[in-house]
Amino acid sequence: MHADIDALRERIRGAKKIVVLTGAGVSAESGIPTFRGDGGLWRNYRATDLATPEAFARNSALVWEFYNWRRILISKVECNPAHRALAAMQKGAADFALITQNIDGLHLKAGSRNVLEIHGNIWKVRCTHCGDVHLEEKPDLGTAPACGKCGALLRPHVVWFGEGLDPVLLESAYRLSASCDLMLVIGTSAVVQPAASFPSAATSSGAFVVEINPERTPLSASVDLTLLGKAGEIVPQLVAA
Ligand code: OAD
Ligand code: ZN
Repeated sequence: MHADIDALRERIRGAKKIVVLTGAGVSAESGIPTFRGDGGLWRNYRATDLATPEAFARNSALVWEFYNWRRILISKVECNPAHRALAAMQKGAADFALITQNIDGLHLKAGSRNVLEIHGNIWKVRCTHCGDVHLEEKPDLGTAPACGKCGALLRPHVVWFGEGLDPVLLESAYRLSASCDLMLVIGTSAVVQPAASFPSAATSSGAFVVEINPERTPLSASVDLTLLGKAGEIVPQLVAA
């Protein structure tokens, strides 16, 4: 493991273009539950009851309760050493982009730039009628927040199951994945598409792909290196002087 980390640190130093793909695991050490695995959100809740357009059409108040609960939880947590180390890695890199499936905004809070939040951001709301998108900082928005412009119901500006990703973001994420020489895949179970296919886009175009996760995933067999461990412990070692 130490030899792997030393070699990877060198690779990071020499890379022309680094792309990082993160999932819920990168925020786990901040205290935000992941979706799958031990203590995962989808063990206690059914995604189809809470994170689908059908669920919102059926019971928007219940969906808002779920998102208010998560907004309150996220408002209380801090960035962890993995978020901070990724922001530091970017400072030393020639070309660096971070694609995240997380909606918690913690990469931005840690100082990362060039962040593609492909599943949206929990701090943003979107009007179901006029489409206006804006930030709402108050954690608890109640069960029927209304648009300030047209009065219609607001929804979280996040991507739900069954919804497509923003095509512009998706195109950028593929382009970045297929043009980097090093990709770090951190804290994702790699089962949700399309994010799960970015690493193979990187591999196909010759990039070196590294996975950082305490558990093996469906990606493990096809990446160049798997570092088994917690993001908050491993990522800081990759940027240590
Ligand atoms: P998952 O919950 O599916 O996977 C979390 C991954 O993080 C697992 O592989 C864990 O082993 C790993 N993990 C746990 N603790 C970790 C730590 N300390 N350091 C590193 N890794 C750790 O989360 P995602 O892959 O992000 O979608 O899930 C993808 C999407 O499914 C989410 O964006 C969300 C969800 O439903 C939407 O909401 C649209
Ligand atoms: Zn509106």
